[in-house]
Amino acid sequence: MSDQSQEPMKIIIDTDPGQDDAVAILLALASEHLDVLGITAVAGNVPLDLTQKNARVICELAGKPETRVFAGARSPMERPLVTAENVHGSTGLNGPDFADPIMALQPQHAVDFIVETLLSQPAGDVTLCTLGPLTNIALALQQAPEIADRIEQIVMMGGGFFEGGNITPAAEFNIYVDPEAAQSVFGSGVPIVMMPLDVTHKVMTTKKRIARIEALGSSVSRFVVEMLEFFERFDEEKYGTDGGPLHDPTVIAWLLKPELFSGRYCNVEIETGSSLTDGMTVVDWWQVTDRAHNALVIRDVNADGFFDLLNEHLARY
Ligand code: BDR
Ligand code: CA
Repeated sequence: MSDQSQEPMKIIIDTDPGQDDAVAILLALASEHLDVLGITAVAGNVPLDLTQKNARVICELAGKPETRVFAGARSPMERPLVTAENVHGSTGLNGPDFADPIMALQPQHAVDFIVETLLSQPAGDVTLCTLGPLTNIALALQQAPEIADRIEQIVMMGGGFFEGGNITPAAEFNIYVDPEAAQSVFGSGVPIVMMPLDVTHKVMTTKKRIARIEALGSSVSRFVVEMLEFFERFDEEKYGTDGGPLHDPTVIAWLLKPELFSGRYCNVEIETGSSLTDGMTVVDWWQVTDRAHNALVIRDVNADGFFDLLNEHLARY
């Protein structure tokens, strides 16, 4: 969608906050072009009790406590949960100080909310933005397979191909945590836009970019800077980079300004049966098979344009 579009796009954000998830949520809630029908939490970076709480912390920070937050799957479909406190800290949002949220968690299960929303909204109206493991989405598709035809598209952060993996040499975290869920989503026939590490590793939170966010001088910008300073230390210490990759906000940026990105329609299959490469997204980038295209795989981004877009939106807080 472009910024000129009239009707706000209806989205559900499925997420495991996570500092980069938090920035993605702030970006979405700042846009008048997006109607966030609900935020569904999933276990991933940290366990579910923390991801659902963190999602509410961010809605309150954004001044939108009326946003509905639902808790979903506690663990992947067939495997034990793998978390990433080494990257995100013990709370998932390490960096800033924050209090427990006051806004309530919705009583409905996230999977039921996703199904009910897709069945009650006009077909083709709702986009799913996935920022974590795909467990909730796969469970919703399993519970009500008829929703597949009603989802406008799934825009996901997940996978990696030319860049390899970030949790194993072959696999990216979101896909690795629940490869069976990812396999079911990629096999569902729903149009997918995939933001793999190949593109998210190009949006680095450099010192200059962080300083621009800091210069906004708001409580939100301070919170974002404190989160990102914690989050990027992992990559800075391990890889010596200037900043870390701001993965999840690329999903929201794609909805707001797709012209910042480029990619290619490909077939993507998920490895689920190899101890060495489980969770690998096998992208047929060079069309060497006749397997049908099932995803638009993004590979490039105008990184400065992406940070301009983010700053413009954070400046609204
Ligand atoms: C993905 O995994 C999580 O650590 C981040 O929030 C992002 O969604 C990157 O591999
Ligand atoms: Ca995430």
